[in-house]
Amino acid sequence: MNRSSRSLRRLIALTTATLAVVTLAGCHIDMWHQPKFKAQSANPFFPDGKTDRPLVANTVPVGYLRDNEAYYTGKVANKPVAQMPMPVTRELLQRGQERYNVFCQPCHGKVGDGQGMIAQRGLALRRPPATFHTDRLRGMPVGYFYDVITNGFGVMYSYASRIPPEDRWAIAAYVRVLQLSQYARTSELTPDDLRKLQESMNATTSTESKP
Ligand code: HEC
Repeated sequence: MNRSSRSLRRLIALTTATLAVVTLAGCHIDMWHQPKFKAQSANPFFPDGKTDRPLVANTVPVGYLRDNEAYYTGKVANKPVAQMPMPVTRELLQRGQERYNVFCQPCHGKVGDGQGMIAQRGLALRRPPATFHTDRLRGMPVGYFYDVITNGFGVMYSYASRIPPEDRWAIAAYVRVLQLSQYARTSELTPDDLRKLQESMNATTSTESKP
C-alpha cells in the first residue's frame, strides 16, 4: 500500500466518523441521553405513579428459597420443634457458645441466669432478662429458643437481622447446655464427672470451713 492511498483511506474513515457523530447528535440518540427512568423517580405510566415496580408475589432471590419451615422458623404447624435440624457436634456447640457470649450474655449472663452486666447495672430494661433455669423454660422444646431469637419475646427484641439461622440453632443448642450445666441429675453424670463434682464440693466445703 502506498502513502497516498493510506492517507485517502484515513480521510474517508475520519469523514465517516464525523458524519456519524453529527447525525447521531442531531437525533439525540447518543449514549449520554438515554430515555429511561431512574430508580425511585416519579413515573406517570403506572397507576401508583412510581418507577420502582413491586416484586411479583412469591418472588425469591437466588439462594433464598426458605422451603424448610422447621429450619427457618423453628416451628412446624405453629408449634416449636423438639429436634435440632442438624447434628449436634462439638463444633456447633462451640459456635453456639461463642455467639451466645457475643449476643446474649450481656443480658442473660454467662450461665443464663439473667445476671448479665446489663442486668447488673440495671440499664434501661423495662423488665429484667429471663433466667433460663426455670421449670417452664427447661421444659420448652429447642425450637422455642430458636423462635425467641428470631422474633424476640416481650421487651426483648428480635435478633433475626444479626444472627443467621445456622447460628440461631447453635445458640439454642448452647442454651440447652447452660440449662444442663445448672440442673443435671447426678444419675445422668458419668462416674468421672461424678467424682469431679464430689471433689469440687469437698474443695468448697474445706475453703468455707477455713477460719
Ligand atoms: C438487651 C438485653 C437482652 C439480650 C441481649 C438478649 N435478651 Fe433474651 N430477654 C431479655 C429480656 C429483658 C427478657 C424478658 C422479656 C420479657 O419478659 O418481656 C428476655 C427473655 C428471653 C427468654 C425467655 C422467654 C420466655 O419464654 O420467658 C429467652 C429464652 C431469651 N431471652 C433468650 C435470649 C437469647 C438466646 C439471646 C441471644 C441471642 C438473648 N435472649 C439476648 C433481654 C435480652
